[in-house]
Amino acid sequence: MIRVKGLTKSFGQGGAQTRALKEVSLDIGRGESVAIVGPSGCGKSTLLNVLAGIEPMDEGEVWIGEAALHEMSDKDVSRLRLERMGFVFQSYHLVPVLSALDNVALPLIARGIRQSEANKRAMESLRRVGLSEYAKRHPAELSGGQNQRVAIARAIVGKPDILWADEPTGALDSEAAEQIVGLLDMLNKHDGTTVVTVTHDSGVASQAGRIIRLHNGRVVHDGGMVRC
Ligand SMILES: Nc1ncnc2c1ncn2[C@@H]1O[C@H](COP(=O)(O)OP(=O)(O)OP(=O)(O)O)[C@@H](O)[C@H]1O
Ligand SMILES: [Mg+2]
Repeated sequence: MIRVKGLTKSFGQGGAQTRALKEVSLDIGRGESVAIVGPSGCGKSTLLNVLAGIEPMDEGEVWIGEAALHEMSDKDVSRLRLERMGFVFQSYHLVPVLSALDNVALPLIARGIRQSEANKRAMESLRRVGLSEYAKRHPAELSGGQNQRVAIARAIVGKPDILWADEPTGALDSEAAEQIVGLLDMLNKHDGTTVVTVTHDSGVASQAGRIIRLHNGRVVHDGGMVRC
């Protein structure tokens, strides 16, 4: 499903250059649940953002199924992301002036699906995260955990093959975090969605079937459970 070969990514130039990813190679199979761990600054978010086509890469290859991300135009990458991927961020990234329902419907509207159909699917997605009664609320009227569940509903509304999550529980207390982990696990096991989660939280990491540990831009462990 995801194949990465010799992926390299730097920020800045000359003496101020940061080499965030150095020759990263890995394969993630369809339906896997993978946690990416490692110390702050080791390149976890950069890796996720490059794999999701949010950040351009310098060198290497990234395959998403049959699609060669490294050869695609920005427009095609955006389309791939919209049609096949969902993204959950630590800080939710919801639109404050829109209701929960409208936030969730947004990716479908962007795909050209008409409002009534988008609303129907968004409602179903909110129901799956247990928030159908909160559809009309705005992000400021919801708790952190609820907002993150809205963000998950938005990420899954288009039935993505891959769900990327960057510190999805980073801003939540342990009870809300547990709900989020349970949801991601359900989406992986029930829907067969490939889930890739960046986390500092060993509880979150232990839920994943596989752990990839980065250090200084390189993969230093790939396999079973390790300490975060
Ligand atoms: N836009 C940017 N411009 C310059 N340097 C950047 C940028 N984004 C990341 N970096 C640098 O790249 C390296 C990897 O950053 P990244 O955000 O991927 O780390 P991380 O593992 O996600 O850390 P954290 O756990 O703190 O979120 C760091 O040294 C960081 O300072
Ligand atoms: Mg990060």
